[in-house]
Amino acid sequence: MKTQLLSATDAALETAVKLLKNNELTALPTETVYGLAANAHQVQAVQKVFWAKDRPEHDPLIVHVSKKHLEHPAGILASMAMEGTISIDTVTWACKEKLELLLRRYWPGPLTLLLPRGTKIPDLVTNGSLWVGVRCPDHPVFQDVLKRLAFPLAAPSANRFGRISPTRAQHVWDELNGKIPLIIDGGPCQVGVESTILKVEDEPYQATLLRPGKLGTEEIEKILQVSVSTLPSTSKPKPTPTLEAPGQLDEHYAPQKPLWLVAKPFYRAVPSMIQLPAFDHSKMGVLSMSPLSESYLSAWNPQKWIELSHQNPTHEPLQAEQWQQMAQRLFHSLRELDQDPHVQWIICDVPEGESGLVQAIRDRLKRASTNKPSM
Ligand code: TXA
Ligand code: MG
Repeated sequence: MKTQLLSATDAALETAVKLLKNNELTALPTETVYGLAANAHQVQAVQKVFWAKDRPEHDPLIVHVSKKHLEHPAGILASMAMEGTISIDTVTWACKEKLELLLRRYWPGPLTLLLPRGTKIPDLVTNGSLWVGVRCPDHPVFQDVLKRLAFPLAAPSANRFGRISPTRAQHVWDELNGKIPLIIDGGPCQVGVESTILKVEDEPYQATLLRPGKLGTEEIEKILQVSVSTLPSTSKPKPTPTLEAPGQLDEHYAPQKPLWLVAKPFYRAVPSMIQLPAFDHSKMGVLSMSPLSESYLSAWNPQKWIELSHQNPTHEPLQAEQWQQMAQRLFHSLRELDQDPHVQWIICDVPEGESGLVQAIRDRLKRASTNKPSM
C-alpha cells in the first residue's frame, strides 16, 4: 500500500474524512502522541488497526470523541450515550455528577475514562469488555476531523505493537509506511506521553489509575473526592479477561536496542556507583534526565548522549514547564539513540518527583527498559 504523508491542510483533512468514512485508516496528531484512527462503530474499520499495527486483539482501543459533546445541553455523558459510545443507565446520579465535573474540567485533554460501553461499540474495540475507554483529544486537527464525521474514532498510538509511541509524523512514517493510506502531519505533540487512564466504578464508588499520564492523581482526587488506587504492575502478560490495561504490559514502548535503566538520577550518584551491563562500552548511548557531569563523560566516554533537561535539579527544582519539555522530547530522544548506527545499547536514568508527568516518564522508561529495576 502506498502511504501519503500530508500536512494538515483543509484538502488533506477532507481526504482523511473520506478514508475514515470508507472504513480506512488515517494517522492523526493528538496532543499526547499520534493516533491511528478508524471508525469506532465499524468492526471492519477497527480490524484494520490491529492488522496495521500487528497488535494482538486482546489489547483494547481508546475511543476518541468530538468536543461537540462538551456543549450538549443534556451533559457530556448523556451526549456520548445518545451517540451509542457509552451507556449510563447503570451509573448512579451521584457518580454521574462527579464524572461530569471531571470531564468538564479536563476535556478536551489527556484523560481517558473507562465508562460502561455503549451499544454502537463492537466487541473488538474493548476486547469484549463491558467498559470502553473514551477520550476527547485536545488537538485542532483531530477535532476538525471529528467535527466532519458522525462517528467517534478508535485510535491507538500509531506505532507497531510494543514499540516507542510516535510524537511526530515522521515517527509514524518510520513505523507504518506501506501499511496505512494516510498520515496527517500536525507537528510535534505537545504533551509527549500518552493519556492518563482512569477507571471509575460505582457501588462501591472507587477510582483506579490504569496508566499514569500528565493529569496526576491529586487533581483527579480533588474532583472525584475519592482516593485513586493504582493497579499493581504486571510482570508478565496475562491472558484476558484479567488484563485490565494492556498498556501495563512490561514490554511496551521499547526501543530495538537494549535499554539499561539506572534506578536513580545520575546526578545523585558517581560513575563508579553505577553497575554497567556487559555490553560494548564504546557503543554506549546515554539518555540523561539532566545535564551529564564531566565525571560521567570522562568515565564513560559515550558514543552519543542526550540531555532531556539543561537545568541541574540540585541547584533548583524543575518547574512544571521544564517537565513538560522533557516529556515532549522523551520518545523522540529514545528514537534518536535507537536509530543511531554507532549506538548499540542505551543507558538512562530516572527522574525524581511525584507529578503526573514525572510518574508517566518513569512508567514509560521502566516498561521500555531491558533490566526493569525496582524503583
Ligand atoms: O494518549 C493516548 O491515550 C493515545 C492517543 C492516540 O490518544 N492513545 C493510546 O492508545 O495510548 P494505546 O492503544 O496505545 O493505549 C491504549 C491502552 C490499552 O493498551 C489499554 O491499556 C487501555 O488503553 N484501554 C483501552 N481501552 C480499554 C478498556 N476498555 N479496558 C481496559 N483498558 C483499556
Ligand atoms: Mg500504545
